[in-house]
Amino acid sequence: MVIHWIGNKLWIKSIIEEKIGIARDKILFSEHHISHAASSFFCSPFSDAAILNCDGVGEWATTSFGRGEADWTGNGKNDIKLFEEIRFPHSLGLFYSAFTAFLGFEVNEGEYKVMGMAAFGEPKYTDKIYKVIKVNDDGSFGLDMRYFSFPYSTRTTFSRHFEKLFGRPRDPKARFVTRETSLYDDKYPLTDEEARKNQYYADIAASIQKVIEDVLLKIADHLYKKTKLKKLCLSGGVALNCLANTRILKETQFEEIFIQPAAGDSGAAMGAALYVYHCLLAKTRKFILKDAYWGKEYTQEEIKGFLVSNNISYRHIQDENELIGLVVDSILAQKVVGWFQGRFEWGPRALGNRSILADPRNKAMKDVVNIKIKFREPFRPFAPSVLLDKADILFEFGKSKDQYPLKFMLYTLAARRGDMIPAAAHIDGSCRLQVVDRGSNPLFYRLIERFYEATGVPALLNTSFNLKGEPIVNTPENAYMTFLNSGMDMLVLGNFILYK
Ligand SMILES: [Fe+2]
Repeated sequence: MVIHWIGNKLWIKSIIEEKIGIARDKILFSEHHISHAASSFFCSPFSDAAILNCDGVGEWATTSFGRGEADWTGNGKNDIKLFEEIRFPHSLGLFYSAFTAFLGFEVNEGEYKVMGMAAFGEPKYTDKIYKVIKVNDDGSFGLDMRYFSFPYSTRTTFSRHFEKLFGRPRDPKARFVTRETSLYDDKYPLTDEEARKNQYYADIAASIQKVIEDVLLKIADHLYKKTKLKKLCLSGGVALNCLANTRILKETQFEEIFIQPAAGDSGAAMGAALYVYHCLLAKTRKFILKDAYWGKEYTQEEIKGFLVSNNISYRHIQDENELIGLVVDSILAQKVVGWFQGRFEWGPRALGNRSILADPRNKAMKDVVNIKIKFREPFRPFAPSVLLDKADILFEFGKSKDQYPLKFMLYTLAARRGDMIPAAAHIDGSCRLQVVDRGSNPLFYRLIERFYEATGVPALLNTSFNLKGEPIVNTPENAYMTFLNSGMDMLVLGNFILYK
């Protein structure tokens, strides 16, 4: 492990030197968890906050926490101190990944599916899970390594011992359907044996989800006792677990949480840059990551150029009100719309610029979009994108509804009026919602607002613009190809509308 790590660092230095011509002695490394911490803290609006990082593994740390202090005036100094850590192989990220693999999903990809599956089960097996992880009152934990193979295997994450305890892993090709996913059931009814197996795996998913939440709550409580700070920055891949984030907000003394949208390793490079800028070069803070729209955008000319050069017929609608009206009319007519606007989102969530949109009021839309449009598992939920100032109609917000994780789709709340948005609520009535404010995405806001004016429901069903297993579309060409290869009815590329 050490040899592997040192080797990588030397190797990265020589690549940087070779590709961009920077001398080796000018290249700085910031530790992985410092990078995670900086990516959250230096994007947050906070001057002083507790910081919790939790992921698979960095160099050695897998969970670390401490405190950040920032200077906005030019007189003080910026600092991040991580004062406690838990080291490899004891890792909550790798622990969750072992269950992700056991449940038949791909590690580093399928963790969301475990979270989605958990809602179908009951946490009946937490006792069994506490056989493989020992947790102390302060949240420090240790894995019983007899159950895991990840330290010595690149192919598997859990051992035969683990299988003895939990039974056979779920077949990745087995369908996970329930009686709620009616579209599938009509054609291929569930057998009792299938239903029994599905229930067992769903109960395991619910149990692992409950354990990870409970451990994170203990760690967060301990961190609060140590720092007595009311603000918390979360980062690392585990910070994408929106169910856990919500419980930390609700059940601890922390009053406000910040998580930047690319909280996993894809955001670590930004953290490394921010750490150097603010801590090593002592530059004053002036930036808050208020929205996720930092990717590439395409001009109307570029989009038109693509359409014309490929002989694709389109309607060009210059007037924004007219464009919004046409899209809302289509959604009301139960059409599914590919919505491609402005800059690509930073992080794994589609937040209204590379989204597939549909009517959340129609329960059947969940099966339509999962099965006919995205070709993905019928149990997976969709998000509602909700107007900030009308969100109380649908949800009850505890501490505050104006928090960044809500804008970045990183909390899950129980819907107060799930009956108004059945296609965008999960089976247990929960929603991984996105709260949309007028300032950060005016066009998307106006679109939802127009839908609200027509229906009284201040939300649209929003899911990322991609098919199962593919990345979210970036270019107009990506969007067009995905549109062609799916059952989508309408594609909106900037001010250009394409129909099937
Ligand atoms: Fe990480």
